[in-house]
Amino acid sequence: MGPEVAAFEAEFAEFLGVRHAFAVASGTAALHLALLSTGIGPGDEVIQPAVNFVAAANMTTLVGAQPVFADIVALAEPTIDPAHVERLLTPRTRALVVMHYGGHLCRMAELAALCRERDLVLIEDAPHALGARYLDPAGRTPHGRHAGALGDVGCFSFFSNKNLATGEGGMIVTDRDDLAERIRLLRSHGMTTLTWDRHQGRAHSYDVVAHGFNYRFDEMRAAIGRVQLEKLPAGNTRREALVREYWRSLAEVPGLILPFHGRPGESAHHIMVAVAPSADERRTIVEHLITQRIQTSLHYPCIPDFTGFAQTGDDRLPLSREFASRTITLPLYPDLPQPALRTVCEEMAAALERVS
Ligand SMILES: Cc1ncc(COP(=O)(O)O)c(C=O)c1O
Repeated sequence: MGPEVAAFEAEFAEFLGVRHAFAVASGTAALHLALLSTGIGPGDEVIQPAVNFVAAANMTTLVGAQPVFADIVALAEPTIDPAHVERLLTPRTRALVVMHYGGHLCRMAELAALCRERDLVLIEDAPHALGARYLDPAGRTPHGRHAGALGDVGCFSFFSNKNLATGEGGMIVTDRDDLAERIRLLRSHGMTTLTWDRHQGRAHSYDVVAHGFNYRFDEMRAAIGRVQLEKLPAGNTRREALVREYWRSLAEVPGLILPFHGRPGESAHHIMVAVAPSADERRTIVEHLITQRIQTSLHYPCIPDFTGFAQTGDDRLPLSREFASRTITLPLYPDLPQPALRTVCEEMAAALERVS
């Protein structure tokens, strides 16, 4: 929590165009602080996507609130559906968590308007979307605001597979001074001064004014993060070129849905996903790719189908369940060689042909 962390936070805040950025131990820690700093707790309902990494749902439960899962817009647009969010509102709804799947923005104009009308806290679970820009409703020009800077609080992860990676780590950002003060305190045990302040002679003791955590970040990872932040735009540009190449090749494979294909605007292109014609065909493709030593992944299982969330009793969410059973995440990283990408596409086509 010395000068490297301070510099990383300042550079990150400038990059996103926000007033406050706090480096923290992980993206999960950022989400925990987002919920706590906005006062979410027992009795509150937090609407969030069923297709997401489990961290937001876990942290919602941890603060004593109830996660309420909303469906996605479509198989080709696996972000939270504003119309379903509206149907899920109750007098206990206090917050909405959105997740910009794959780096592609949610329908933020509608979602932000809903939050304003209903006085809901808007939290962006934005680890996929570092560098993604908001588009105007017509979807043509960047609005100027980055993903993570569109709600009350934005949360990022620097886990090893992210566009900006430091091993472990995260960042929580906000424009609200009242939340910033709360986050600053909760990140480090609710202490009014930190070791670095005392080392610098700026303080000699401290008080504890809140019940907080050790969610601090450290100098070495901050130094790595600063270099990674400089490399981020070039990495995202390279990811975009690779995704466009995937889209071009896979558009010719019958039966595949390519989420966000051809969508204008600036995405962070965190992952490349294709939706198989059916769950059986997904299995066949994945098994075939394994024989070719091509790794795939799944973003994500539908959260209410996890044992730990079975009590949410959610038996709707048809699109989220369909998506989770059919989606395949393909290899994507800035240094992915073109011939390797072509091989992946050829093997996808070969697997599907074999099924048919
Ligand atoms: C969308 C999303 N939210 C939250 C997290 C949690 O971040 P972390 O692993 O840094 O705790 C991740 C990633 O791992 C993620 O992808």
